[in-house]
Amino acid sequence: MQLPILPLLAFAPSLAAASGMLGFALGNKKADGTCKFQPDWEADFSAINTDSGSKVVRIYAASDCDTAKWILPAAKKTGGQVILGIWPDTDSSYAADKAAVVQYAPQYKDQVYAITVGSETLYRGNFTGETLLTKIKDTKSAVGSGFKVGTADSWNKFMDGTADALITGGADILLCNAFSYWQGQRIGNATASFFDDIMQAFGHIQSVAGSSPPELWVGETGWPSAGSTYQNAVPGVASAKTYWDKAICGILAWGVNVFFFEAFDEPWKPVSVGQDGSVADETHWGAWNSDRSSKYATTC
Ligand SMILES: *[C@@H]1O[C@H](CO)[C@@H](O)[C@H](O)[C@H]1NC(C)=O
Ligand SMILES: *[C@@H]1O[C@H](CO)[C@@H](O)[C@H](O)[C@H]1NC(C)=O
Repeated sequence: MQLPILPLLAFAPSLAAASGMLGFALGNKKADGTCKFQPDWEADFSAINTDSGSKVVRIYAASDCDTAKWILPAAKKTGGQVILGIWPDTDSSYAADKAAVVQYAPQYKDQVYAITVGSETLYRGNFTGETLLTKIKDTKSAVGSGFKVGTADSWNKFMDGTADALITGGADILLCNAFSYWQGQRIGNATASFFDDIMQAFGHIQSVAGSSPPELWVGETGWPSAGSTYQNAVPGVASAKTYWDKAICGILAWGVNVFFFEAFDEPWKPVSVGQDGSVADETHWGAWNSDRSSKYATTC
């Protein structure tokens, strides 16, 4: 496979480095929009593991649909692990998700890979880095020892200094999201654009963190198999497969951990509006269809 030339940065692994870890972002609703329960989560873990070998998923709001309550026993049964999310944007969602994490995470320590407080809150302008750090520290002390706590945000917020307080202030894990699709890239330039975004974000984090950097992951990336065209980015199964083969397999081969967005199509989702005001359908971002059948091979 032809990989783009990468700048040599502090984090760049040696060619002998082990492959990065692969995970999947996972929605908490079934195709009909109702909440998943333990058997649904078990079937999700099994399908993901059978087809891709991956054992780790991330969810966004621990109390919504009682996700922490049902996904953790499913993870235990199937040998999976979860990054539990807390949605801190409002005081009530923060309190409810934190309570669910504090209740369930200590009962399933081996199944909790980490905890994220917030998803793209800096990108949306909801918090400053300092405010978000306060919530990360508050969660860390509430849940007790032995958990990695951090956040997920857009790559450019890690690159431009907005998140510096988290890097120097003790976040254990940082997830950087980057979507060539939402940058309007054509598929032919999507891998180069993705690598460039992640190199810039990780490079800045490394330079600010010095000798003890937080654990780093790509938090979300992917390509839709159907839906609307966004500038030069055209959805399609062939392009989604190309993105998997070049961007996902390519960055894993560099030793970088990556969460693919997302595991399964979510046909219940309402349309969303892109940065340029155009309407986009977000129901076809799954590596698998909503019934867990394959679209393309999810191996490298
Ligand atoms: C914070 O996030 C929520 C969405 O989770 C949004 O509705 C709200 O407007 C945001 N607040 C600010 C100040 O951006
Ligand atoms: C392709 O990606 C590279 C790397 O991000 C970027 O510098 C370049 O502008 C992109 N090309 C186009 C045509 O957008």
